Amino acid sequence: MARERYSSGARLYDALSADWPVYRVGRTTAIELLAPRPGERVLDLGCGTGLNHAPLDAAIGRDGRVLGVDRSPQMLAVARRRAERRGLASVRLLEADATALDPEAVRTALGGPADVVLATYTLSIMSDPAEAWRRALAAARPSARVAIVDMQEPHGPARLLAPLARAFAGFGGADLTVRPWRMIEQEAAELRGRSLRGGHIQVRVGRLAPPEPEVP
Ligand SMILES: C[S@@+](CC[C@H](N)C(=O)[O-])C[C@H]1O[C@@H](n2cnc3c(N)ncnc32)[C@H](O)[C@@H]1O
Repeated sequence: MARERYSSGARLYDALSADWPVYRVGRTTAIELLAPRPGERVLDLGCGTGLNHAPLDAAIGRDGRVLGVDRSPQMLAVARRRAERRGLASVRLLEADATALDPEAVRTALGGPADVVLATYTLSIMSDPAEAWRRALAAARPSARVAIVDMQEPHGPARLLAPLARAFAGFGGADLTVRPWRMIEQEAAELRGRSLRGGHIQVRVGRLAPPEPEVP
């Protein structure tokens, strides 16, 4: 079912995904914390229509590369048009099921291992988010910076909005109980987190391993 939403619904995704009023802040916060640098290689897992690509392209410049991976050709078609329209020279796209992703294919498309890996609002939709994340990290360098942005039910006073969040997540095929950011909490160093929109949006950013010692 979720697969169909992201095929026939691809052209309406940007309009119906409540990007600006609700979800954009999760993406921009993650990218800000990841702080991609000029020339870096970025894997955007489950990239959808490429809403992360303009800010990533602006940060890494033409010497860097963004690889957007998604299993929906229709979502990728929108991402491709966005990249062409906005002249996002760093963007490449790969149609693949993230749960069966070939890390070597990712490294080849990126021109080397990923420096940065992010997954925004996508792991909670996947049948096996742990396997998808494992494969994405296998395409990254050992000290890559990583980010997961995903959703849960809002809490505190914002829990009044829980039925809305549930309906919205259900529409997108997301399971609000998955909490995929825990994978970063368990694995990464230099962990930073943000809880946004009454806890509905969770952002976690970290580093896969401590930074290599600097040579004096
Ligand atoms: C809610 S959209 C999020 C898109 C984008 N990351 C964003 O922040 O707007 C979820 C995306 O995950 C993709 N997706 C779901 N399961 C997938 C899988 N197993 N492999 C690759 N992409 C998948 C869908 O096709 C869809 O484009």
